[in-house]
Parts: sequence; C-alpha cells; structure tokens
Amino acid sequence: MNKNPIGVFDSGIGGLTVVKEIRKILPDEDIVYLGDTARLPYGTKSVDAIMQFSIENAEFLISRGAKFIVIACYSSTSVALDVVQKKCSVPIIGVIKPGVEQALAITKTGRIGVIGTSLTIYSGAYEKAFKEFNTRCEILGRACPLFVPLVEEGWLDHQATELIAQAYLQPLKEDNIDTLLLGCTHFPLLMPVIKKIMGDIHYVDASVEVGRELAQQLKENKLENPRGLGNLSIYLTDLSMNFKEIGERFLAEPMRNFSRISLKGA
Ligand code: DGL
Repeated sequence: MNKNPIGVFDSGIGGLTVVKEIRKILPDEDIVYLGDTARLPYGTKSVDAIMQFSIENAEFLISRGAKFIVIACYSSTSVALDVVQKKCSVPIIGVIKPGVEQALAITKTGRIGVIGTSLTIYSGAYEKAFKEFNTRCEILGRACPLFVPLVEEGWLDHQATELIAQAYLQPLKEDNIDTLLLGCTHFPLLMPVIKKIMGDIHYVDASVEVGRELAQQLKENKLENPRGLGNLSIYLTDLSMNFKEIGERFLAEPMRNFSRISLKGA
C-alpha cells in the first residue's frame, strides 16, 4: 500500500495549489490528481449535487490505487467531507480544519474573516470547524463568488478585479478582523489585490497546512513512501481551451502528464 499514490481531487485545476505544497513537503510521494473540470464550478451548486460528485471523484481515485485522499476543494470539503469519509475505505482529509487551526494559532484579537464560494460560506462549515475547537473567536464569513471566474480569466491584477475585491472585502475591513482565511482554491492567486485592500493583517492559505497535516497522517497511518519517484498524474473530466496555462499558474511547474477521463455524470 505504501507505494500507492496519494489521491487529490478538486472541482477543477485550482486544487493544484494544494498539490504544489504536497510536492514540496513530500517530494517522493506519487500523486494522482482529479480535476472535475466538466462540472466546475462547485461553489454555486447544491449540497446534494456536490455530495454526489465528491463520492464519484473519491471512487475514481480509489480505482487508481489511492492510499489516502485529500479533498483540495473547499466547497466539496464544506458539504461532503463526512459523507465521502463514510463511503470510502481509505483515510481522507479536507482543507478546512488545517486552515482553522492555523488561524487560531495566529489571531490576537479573535476576529477572524473567512472568504470562499457561496456554497462554502453559506454551508456554515467554517463556523462548525471553529466551534469544534471550543473557541470564542468571532467568525465573519463573506462569499466572493466572482473571484473564481476572475482567476480563471487570468485577471489577477486587473482594475475590475480590484473594484470587485473592494466591494467584497470592505465590510470585513470595517469589522476589524486581524486574520483572513482564504477558503477557496483560487483565492491565493489574488493575494496581492486582497492584501492591497485588507492591509497589514494575518493571512491563512491552508494549502501549506494541508501538506503538513497530510505528512503527519501518512506517518501515523504508516503509509509513507520514502523511495517513490514523485510522479504526478493529472486527470481532468474536460480539457478546456486554456486549462494548461491556468493549471501551470496554480502548480508553478509544467503540466506534463495529463489526460481526459469520463466519470458517470461528468
Ligand atoms: N474549487 C472550488 C473551491 O475551492 C472553487 C471553484 C468552484 O466553485 O468549483 O471552493
């Protein structure tokens, strides 16, 4: 089992930011990545649909031999982590808890902002995760759905992006948060514009923490592969016009080994 790959899935290619961090921390591990590009976006869809898609994604990764699964999608983690864990036989982690732990470790005032897709914010998943740590922190959520297409379009420092970011983030600024959690795969790419508006506060991009959590869990479960080749296989349910250009922006290295696959509903 140790030689088997780690499975990672996301609604699209944004989850490659998580893969990038996993590859830094665990360079010997092989990774099988599934991006459900045919059914993206998840962040505007219903809970039922995302539960079903997430189960199908996990089953695909298990069919490719995944020994451990990371749900790199925040929308999917928000509403489907429990159900996928119950359905599948391998250990599974999501992206919410590692970010929450990091935010709790660095906040001084206990006023924490969370930005994500509409599904993530309205699911209440972050409030629930913070509650599990018995914290008295004030959690202020804000859905920023337009950030996703802006990143897909490559408008990372466009004037329009700055205007939209200003409209989304101003209420959080007025709420005097001291820590902002980036609860979406796409948002780390907008860090410069977000920082310009929010200024000198703490920022949490959970991808680094997810890599650390995965490394620790592989150790605990005795699933490490210290002598692997570090291969990365990328499967996408659709190959859109500019997927490679965008994917490489997230991955920060050339996308070499990719192919299109069909899932039941995709
Ligand atoms: N991957 C999604 C997330 O992290 C963003 C894109 C989508 O809406 O599918 O929430």
